[in-house]
Amino acid sequence: MKENFNMEEADRHSYIVALTGASGAIYGFSLLKALISRSFFVHLIISKPGFKVIKDELGMFADISGGGEASAGGNDSLNGFNLKIKNEIENKFGLHKDGGRFAFLDENFLEARIASGSAKNVKGMIVIPCSMGSLSRIANGISGNLIERAADVMLKERKKLIVCPRETPFNDIHLKNMLSLHSSGATILPPIPAFYNMPRTVEDIIDFITGKILDALGIENDIYARWKGYD
Ligand SMILES: Cc1cc2nc3c(=O)[nH]c(=O)nc-3n(C[C@H](O)[C@H](O)[C@H](O)COP(=O)(O)O)c2cc1C
Repeated sequence: MKENFNMEEADRHSYIVALTGASGAIYGFSLLKALISRSFFVHLIISKPGFKVIKDELGMFADISGGGEASAGGNDSLNGFNLKIKNEIENKFGLHKDGGRFAFLDENFLEARIASGSAKNVKGMIVIPCSMGSLSRIANGISGNLIERAADVMLKERKKLIVCPRETPFNDIHLKNMLSLHSSGATILPPIPAFYNMPRTVEDIIDFITGKILDALGIENDIYARWKGYD
């Protein structure tokens, strides 16, 4: 089975971005845009509940019933469904000039290259937004779908895994799972805005989180207004 992207493109240094069924899908797309506009290739995975939340929050994927199940046909390069998803994302976020730089991968596609530690060009992975369900399954090594497996690979290969949990308040199970993941090497980066930078718009808040993730990945950016401190 082939993946729906050009291998040459994928052989650049790349990141995995996973959107799960927590609120805040826009954060995931903002990060996608930020990475591909900096010439990184992105392997984009969306969980089935992630599709539902994207529908509710962003009004996208209107003709996908229930979630991503229409994608069960795999990831062959001729798979029209995956390309349709990719096109819709490109249209919604104006990514046409960067079109070649990301691939949409089905969460059930466990044969994907990124499901293995041998995918050497993958620099890291960001789960944003991360539901408490995905948090728990990643923290416990379940590896039942491509998101969980790829995250597991990041940890075993000692690569960067950034998890952006979205829930409030947290219960002790959530907190224990976060501590466990942190102890395993992941960065826990909840999408919590700051107000010292005087955000004026929702975009300012989204940019702050996107910039913080790029900072955590070591990618230079001036997406958000930094605290300059007092002399
Ligand atoms: C509109 C909507 C918003 C949701 N927001 C959250 C959330 O912020 N955090 C969370 O942990 N779960 C949230 N959920 C529940 C998850 O989608 C659900 O637990 C799901 O099974 C998670 O699956 P996943 O981790 O495979 O994406 C939300 C569900 C819906 C429909």
